Amino acid sequence: MKKFVIGNWKMNLNVHEASLFAAKLAQDIPIRRGVETIICPSFLALEPLSLQIDHRQMKLCAQNCYWRDSGAFTGEISATQLRGLAQYVLVGHSERRNIFDEDDREIRFKVQAALRNGLTPILCVGETEFEYNEGDTPHVLNDHVAGGLLNVGSDQMDDVIIAYEPVWAIGSGKTPKLEEIEKAIELIRTQVAHMFGKSIAKNVPILYGGSVNLTNARAILSVKGVDGLLIATASLIAPEFVGIVEIASELVKKEGEKG
Ligand code: 13P
Repeated sequence: MKKFVIGNWKMNLNVHEASLFAAKLAQDIPIRRGVETIICPSFLALEPLSLQIDHRQMKLCAQNCYWRDSGAFTGEISATQLRGLAQYVLVGHSERRNIFDEDDREIRFKVQAALRNGLTPILCVGETEFEYNEGDTPHVLNDHVAGGLLNVGSDQMDDVIIAYEPVWAIGSGKTPKLEEIEKAIELIRTQVAHMFGKSIAKNVPILYGGSVNLTNARAILSVKGVDGLLIATASLIAPEFVGIVEIASELVKKEGEKG
């Protein structure tokens, strides 16, 4: 199965800096079958980068979208407006949930808006440190997955990606134990299986995000069920990001050799 390596640049780099950084990545990221390399720049940089990058080498992902297609929503950007600029869109990132108070209802509307407009939503789910300490991770994951994917049709699930991002691991340098990541991914797949059946659950790509770097990427990517990585801090350091793409590529090649 192919692996995803996604760089979420968050609210960093102006348009010029984004262009220079993408050019730097382009020098070192070869076009590889088996690894989908995706960058998530600011909305402003999507258009220039969509003209600049080789789309066989890297794809573009928006960091957010509004769920209505058009209208009097000052300051918002719809999935309709992102068509042709990005192929993917992050939905329900923990910063959207926690800083901008997005709830599961809004998040599911965004998932549907993305699908309606031909974008692949990357639904982010994950527990806070408090929830982790309370042993609430399974409930939170169930709620986030069920809440985000309610009303999605089985036929649309080919175009959905889920990212497990424990909030306490984001930007903290802390990561869950590998067996905890495996367990969380398994819980997410089980919830998807309840909703859409086993075969869809087996095929939905599930990524891990939270303090991924060049040192831990191989181990995390090798965890059973992990189909890719969603990276912020390390994605803004070219050798780290490129190195992680290389690791993903090696692992895909090894898996292919094993059959
Ligand atoms: P870090 O890689 O900085 O921990 O952030 C992860 C993240 O939020 C990706 O969306």
